[in-house]
Amino acid sequence: MTEIAHKNAFVTGAASGIGLALTKALVARGAHVMMADMNAEGLAAARAEVGEAHTESVVCDVSDAGSVQNAAQATIDAFGKVHLLFNNAGVSLAGRPGQIDLRDWQWITDINLMGVVHGVETFLPLIAAHDEGGHIVNTASMAGHVTAPGMGPYFATKFAVTGYSEALRIELKKSGIGVSCLCPTWVKSNIHNTSDNSPAAEVHREKFKQSDAYKAVRSLVENGMSPDVYAELCMKAIEANRLHVFNDPEARQALIDRHEANLADYDACLADLDL
Ligand SMILES: NC(=O)c1ccc[n+]([C@@H]2O[C@H](COP(=O)([O-])OP(=O)(O)OC[C@H]3O[C@@H](n4cnc5c(N)ncnc54)[C@H](O)[C@@H]3O)[C@@H](O)[C@H]2O)c1
Repeated sequence: MTEIAHKNAFVTGAASGIGLALTKALVARGAHVMMADMNAEGLAAARAEVGEAHTESVVCDVSDAGSVQNAAQATIDAFGKVHLLFNNAGVSLAGRPGQIDLRDWQWITDINLMGVVHGVETFLPLIAAHDEGGHIVNTASMAGHVTAPGMGPYFATKFAVTGYSEALRIELKKSGIGVSCLCPTWVKSNIHNTSDNSPAAEVHREKFKQSDAYKAVRSLVENGMSPDVYAELCMKAIEANRLHVFNDPEARQALIDRHEANLADYDACLADLDL
């Protein structure tokens, strides 16, 4: 059981979508939140929306380890201690294999995977130091469990985050620090536009925005679950120290299919070994 009331939290990607909703849900439960985001203007507007009484904010680029370390120092300066870490900032990137600019691959990996790593490596010693327990929450996606064509880099980084989160949970089992991994499908946010900021966006942005794939994703995100509803689900899962936080009633079969495909390969390989 993880307590949220009166605890101090650090939330990345707090200017928009799920990060903003997590911040609101944390404050509603009595936590203090350091809101972190690389979008300074959006961050100021988001903090004004949540209210300044229980929040602080810091501009932070999670892909830059030094920026995360500075944000951690700002959190300690503001709150004294930190208990709850939300590595939530993330971006999306579409594209077919053989056609994706390597600068874009690096960009999404630095944010979606290394951003989480920077958060854990920076904050875990700070959480462990006060001996009051805590919780690490990494935002992956249902795209960290099942795949589809057209977004290989996103799936690759999100599978990495689910695997890393599972490993962290085992590592921290006896430490009093819980680990959860957010695995949402289609939550209303700005995620479908984040690749506008990728290094090679100038080359592909216009064509991409005209594609049927982009229009389909935009429609699914725009009609997705309310981030406030998803954030409330997350609070309950964190309090219960549940690993995965799913929200998609239609994804169960996809999880089963992937599991069964893995087992079919496993059985076939062991049969080839005559075991
Ligand atoms: N919305 C969905 O349907 C959905 C589904 C599955 C997973 N997710 C994940 O949820 C997380 C939050 O995304 P969202 O849907 O709220 O999108 P969003 O675009 O509304 O919010 C993302 C926030 O992250 C910030 N950000 C981007 N790069 C950053 C960086 N380098 N450093 C600091 N901040 C940065 C952006 O400025 C933005 O405020 C992401 O990790 C995303 O992959 C979203």
